[in-house]
Amino acid sequence: MRVLSGIQPSGALHIGNYFGAIRQYVALQEANDAFYFVADYHALTSVRDAAKLRQYVFDVIVDLLALGIDPDRVTLFVQSDVPETTELTWLLTTVTPMGWLEKCVSYKDKVQQGHSADHGLFAYPVLQAADILLYDADLVPVGQDQKQHLEITRDIAERFNHVYGDVFKLPKPHILESVAVIPGLDGRKMSKSYDNTIEIFDDPKTILKKCKRLVTDSKGVDEPKDSDNSHLFGLFRLFASAEELAEIEPKFRHGGIGYGTLKVRLAELIAAHFAEARARRAELVSNPSRVLEIRSAAAAKAKTAARAVLDRAREACGVG
Ligand code: ADP
Ligand code: TRP
Repeated sequence: MRVLSGIQPSGALHIGNYFGAIRQYVALQEANDAFYFVADYHALTSVRDAAKLRQYVFDVIVDLLALGIDPDRVTLFVQSDVPETTELTWLLTTVTPMGWLEKCVSYKDKVQQGHSADHGLFAYPVLQAADILLYDADLVPVGQDQKQHLEITRDIAERFNHVYGDVFKLPKPHILESVAVIPGLDGRKMSKSYDNTIEIFDDPKTILKKCKRLVTDSKGVDEPKDSDNSHLFGLFRLFASAEELAEIEPKFRHGGIGYGTLKVRLAELIAAHFAEARARRAELVSNPSRVLEIRSAAAAKAKTAARAVLDRAREACGVG
């Protein structure tokens, strides 16, 4: 099955991204023909600094490789290395009613947050539809927030097929909703926009500093605490082994361990969890030509797949 997903290069990846998305991308690469890409055209709607964007793109590639995406199995490419995407976007816009885009929550949210109402932001879902349809994707693993974009992708594909004949395969969303929302330092959802993240590749010292910032109530060491409703404990649960959890949880519930001690232990566990990935990442960063090689090989493969579908669409609607 062709599995496809995109990640915007708009800053360092955090633990929420890891458990909510990347870990599952890694799992899906085993039994599928996976295409994962760095969505730099999409990122242009928020990043307006060429050097920064280039750096973010490089960072996402090395992050994904370090975290276990296998370039021999997966086509790990950069969206703009396949400019065919933008031509397909245009073909799709011609069958996309304004009303479908006007009702998009993510567009409305961003404008409400003070983002300028550019056409690119408005047409963002059409670009996303092109990403998906261009590669005949069967399955698109994404977070709950992308559900509406996938519905629009299917609607656009159906409309194009209705007008011009059977050109596009209809993709199925694979909503990663069974995964718990990972809490951030302040207890809200961990998110770049809330400044409450622990980055996957923070160094151990920074991880410790951030863990110490985790907000808790003021219960003392010997007071009983609620492990189900503590986001500190929630994070600890993600990283601790079963044995350690069995040892610590009763102490937390009945008294015997303080928040400070648990924060320090959590920081150690997080640093240890990503230690191998951190070493792999450092190796990749010191070998940019290897990263470029992977990027170029994937681009060539993605381009071949894209060209075939774009030609089908051009032929069907009579351009070229
Ligand atoms: P952010 O909120 O930091 O901007 P994104 O929206 O770029 O993160 O998320 C990219 C992917 O990571 C999505 O698939 C999303 O579902 C997942 N994700 C982000 N934050 C979390 C979280 N706190 N818990 C679980 N999954 C998350
Ligand atoms: N819009 C997605 C996000 O912000 C990223 C994305 C772009 C994407 N194109 C895609 C995801 C195609 C899946 C398929 O998370």
